[in-house]
Amino acid sequence: MSLNPSPLERVREYERERASKLPADERPLFHLTPLVGWMNDPNGFCYYKGQYHLFYQYHPFSRQWGPMHWGHAVSDDLLHWTYMPCALAPDTEADAGGCFSGSAVPLKDGRLMLCYTGVQPAGTFRRETQAQCVAFGDGTDFEKSLLNPVIRHAHLPVGYSAFDFRDPKAWMAEDGTFRMVVGNRHEERQGTILYLSSKDGLDWNFVGEIDASCSEYGRMWECPDFFAIDGKQVLIVSPQEMHAREEFHAGYGTVAILGQFDEKECVFTRESIQPVDHGLTFYAPQTTLAPDGRRIMIGWMDNWETCKEAPRRHPWYAQMSMPREVFIRNGRLMQVPVREIQGLWKDTVNHEKVTVKEETSLEGVHGRMLDMTVTLYPSQSGCRRFTLHVAKDREHYIQILCNLARGELVFDRSHGGSHRDIAHTRHVRAEVQDGKLTLRILMDRESVELFINNGERVVTSLIPTPIESDGVTFAADAPIEMSVEAHHLG
Ligand code: FRU
Repeated sequence: MSLNPSPLERVREYERERASKLPADERPLFHLTPLVGWMNDPNGFCYYKGQYHLFYQYHPFSRQWGPMHWGHAVSDDLLHWTYMPCALAPDTEADAGGCFSGSAVPLKDGRLMLCYTGVQPAGTFRRETQAQCVAFGDGTDFEKSLLNPVIRHAHLPVGYSAFDFRDPKAWMAEDGTFRMVVGNRHEERQGTILYLSSKDGLDWNFVGEIDASCSEYGRMWECPDFFAIDGKQVLIVSPQEMHAREEFHAGYGTVAILGQFDEKECVFTRESIQPVDHGLTFYAPQTTLAPDGRRIMIGWMDNWETCKEAPRRHPWYAQMSMPREVFIRNGRLMQVPVREIQGLWKDTVNHEKVTVKEETSLEGVHGRMLDMTVTLYPSQSGCRRFTLHVAKDREHYIQILCNLARGELVFDRSHGGSHRDIAHTRHVRAEVQDGKLTLRILMDRESVELFINNGERVVTSLIPTPIESDGVTFAADAPIEMSVEAHHLG
């Protein structure tokens, strides 16, 4: 290290030193965790020079949120990640208060452009302000533009906030110029998503506002994403302070708005709106395009309401969700685990059309690293309630209760061993379709991701259950036929 190390060099040195001392075996098998310290939102998710790059909100020096850096990892298959040195530290005038969330765009000249929110410490406004910055690099080292912040509050029409102005998601349009969506809080319309364009990534023009909460879907809209898929335009936002309504729970949520976009007029017309994920711990998702055309989404597998007090069991805190393929079916945004997961399948167990009533376990079906699909065939039976327990021992279990009569599922981790008075349950629609209901359950040590009816609705949750609790049982109030296909993962 040089005699006078920069803040980034100091972080990188700290990472090297800590990495050599970390226990090897405690991490989830295929969910990304930070090398050390704290992690929140996925940032700069992209495919660049033959690999997936994923950056993340990062505070290396403690397991609590703090001055934001960008952590960095790369992967060939979205499941095995290799840590890269910290990419950004808050070390310039434009971002001294933190390098907040943003995105990455591979450029035609081979460089990678990072777009992020620079937080400027309280100055004339007596409050921290937020503006958008860029940095250019080779996939490891990035140089921040001297023009930062390249998008300031002064670029915006009146009414928009200088304090809540963050999370740029930029991409390259077909003609090689750039577009961006970014969150802001308008004094009347609350959460808004702004659309900007640029020829070179440095000089940006405000084009318009594409959508707004108008206090219906929360206050500030964070971490927008905006993409075309299967004939729809999709806007994803993560609102703060949602009221419970329709299928949305209160608090920090994730919203997908499907519609059509007239780019010339900068008019986005809503057609439908849905939660992205119905679970207890999922926020700030971001997508990228895979080289084969799939749109892949990954989110922070945590929740601002509860993370600060959550137990710290490891030298790192927090993890990303499973990367998911997203697509549209019957006017809904659907998601399934990336197909690369098949590379981790081992010891597959199949139980075809077995009938259950009393609490039953099935041979070979247990574990905390599992990809299991349960298909229920309730048509001929009088079964109204079907109960699945996972991560089970004598005292603990995570319960998935299907109320078949009501077409509703209750995910419940309240018997998982937590002593905290926080939300432990979520109710979500789960309807029998063409005579069956399918539940795909992905478990990776401390998490469950449940994909209902091939990804129509998803419930993501961290689970507090002791890692040794690995039982799986099935029960119903009347005999019901089901099939179980379970892949152990390794
Ligand atoms: C969302 C968020 C972003 C912000 C970042 C700060 O989780 O609040 O809006 O950029 O986290 O870490």
